[in-house]
Amino acid sequence: MKRILSGIKPSGDLNIGGYGGALSQFVKYQHEYESYFFIPDLHAVTVYQDPRELHERSREIAAYYIAAGIDHDKSPIFLQSQVSAHAQMGWLMETQAHYGELGRMTQFKEKTDSQDSVSSALFTYPALMAADILLYQATHVPVGDDQKQHLELTRDLAQRFNNRYGHTFTLPEPIITEIGSRIMSLDDPSRKMSKSNPNQNSYILLQDSPESIRKKLARAVTDSEGLVRYDWEQKPAISNLIEIYAVFSGEPVEEIEQRYTGQGYGVFKKELTEVVVAKLVPIQQRFSEIIGSSELDQILRRGAEQASMIADKTLRQAAKAMGFIVSHEQ
Ligand code: TYM
Repeated sequence: MKRILSGIKPSGDLNIGGYGGALSQFVKYQHEYESYFFIPDLHAVTVYQDPRELHERSREIAAYYIAAGIDHDKSPIFLQSQVSAHAQMGWLMETQAHYGELGRMTQFKEKTDSQDSVSSALFTYPALMAADILLYQATHVPVGDDQKQHLELTRDLAQRFNNRYGHTFTLPEPIITEIGSRIMSLDDPSRKMSKSNPNQNSYILLQDSPESIRKKLARAVTDSEGLVRYDWEQKPAISNLIEIYAVFSGEPVEEIEQRYTGQGYGVFKKELTEVVVAKLVPIQQRFSEIIGSSELDQILRRGAEQASMIADKTLRQAAKAMGFIVSHEQ
């Protein structure tokens, strides 16, 4: 059996990087795998979140999942904080993770560089992420390239646990798509597209208006060669725009290159805008219908109930394997 678990943190507005590396992949793989999609709100609070914003953003991420095409009747959508097994399993995973390996996580190092005070939860974050995945015995985890190291750690922790206590966890494989798993900033193709960039023109949000998308893409850096060619070494800025085109149109990179042979960046950017807008506008329309409805809260409650059934079972198995006294009703 093939099973997916993945999620997007409600810590900032969703940008097209999260769409390319994660959400569009969720939509694609939901038909091939038994899937669970969650909103990792416990992960979001590893850095301070305004409580009202956290509340709103958590619902927004869920609404985007549905608006982008996840069928919640088939694949449960749920909030991490509503399935208590995540926090409990997170603790068990912390007992397996070594201080040194958590300190080597590049995301931790990057985030601590820009902050004065760092929560201990930011440090132990990858142990909770391992718990998220292992609770569902996920065989596959679709993520962007920046989560690769966390997936490797998850496999190490699962292996360590299995060796110590007997086979308990499935070792998950990451699914990192070749195109779209590293969408870079529009102002600097050496940096990942991220909402934390102070330059608002460096990212496109899922909620951006067509006019704003047009302006941002018009300002996106290019190079002086004037050729639409896919070559990350020599032409990172254009290659990034070609990848965005490929993610939103579903067309192979070679076809895009061919179509724009002999055409300038102006034409390419104009049509790229059309491709992105054509995909985002219907998502935005569905999003606005879903976000205000109480059905969303019901979907999340039902998702949490379905997720708990699997998560509680794995938690019991892991706790029992470690020697905890587990009652049957628990
Ligand atoms: P997060 O919330 O930072 O990002 C969500 C997903 O989007 C991908 N992503 C990108 N992909 C391509 N280009 C970009 N510029 C870009 N920016 C973000 C991320 O790689 C990710 O797949 N730790 C996770 C959340 C998490 C999780 C999990 C994921 C917690 N537990 C269990 C999978 C399974 C995170 O912070 O992703």
